[in-house]
Amino acid sequence: MSATPEKNSRVEQSAASDDSIQQVHAQLQKTKPEKKDGYSMLPLVLLGLICTVVFFGSVYMVHYSIRFDPLVVNEVAKREKPGASKGVQLTRAQMGKRVYDQTCFACHGPAGLGQPGTYPPLAGSEWAQGSEERVIRIVLHGLSGPLMVEGKEYNNVMAPLGGTLKDEQIANVISYVRASWGNTASEVQPETVAKVRAETADRKSNWTAAELEKL
Ligand code: HEC
Repeated sequence: MSATPEKNSRVEQSAASDDSIQQVHAQLQKTKPEKKDGYSMLPLVLLGLICTVVFFGSVYMVHYSIRFDPLVVNEVAKREKPGASKGVQLTRAQMGKRVYDQTCFACHGPAGLGQPGTYPPLAGSEWAQGSEERVIRIVLHGLSGPLMVEGKEYNNVMAPLGGTLKDEQIANVISYVRASWGNTASEVQPETVAKVRAETADRKSNWTAAELEKL
């Protein structure tokens, strides 16, 4: 196959066009600036700009983001108010355990067994599980003198606690005592404690077992 003259001339033209020859000439004659080595300024400035935008973007996100909280995007979800109880409602007896451990534990013991001959037991006690009116009075004003508990005799002094404990705390601790260590007596309400406290407001001394037995 032989090349046509037309094709030949085209090849020559593309190999060294007038334009390219003129460009080379211009460079040689320094009429056009030579291409310099190294980086040119524009990409560097752009890079700096992008970095700045990303940086301030991150700062903005940290300040105003929702921290990927699903509740923000879930319209149906209910957020609990801060300080609201977490659904677990303690019973009076459960709340009373703390009062017991701080106030009664020292004498009546961890399992309500007291101390033989000195501190009467609350576990299985007919007093602890008996009339609310009596137990409340014992805690409010104390108890002293001869006393029979579960067939054993005691003759000691329990100091009044009505000054240090609030109605609610007394109701809770008695409820705890009446529902622990095998005891199965009813819960005591703060209103009952308040009522008894008001009725016995002028009581100055400890109760005696004989007095309480008359109630
Ligand atoms: C400082 C020791 C002491 C503390 C503290 C104390 N008690 Fe007593 N408690 C006694 C003594 C002693 C008696 C018996 C008094 C007597 O012999 O007349 C008694 C008697 C009782 C009785 C009647 C008898 C019985 O065993 O059932 C009950 C009920 C009672 N206490 C409940 C409590 C509760 C509830 C608390 C805490 C809120 C408490 N006590 C704190 C010493 C104490």
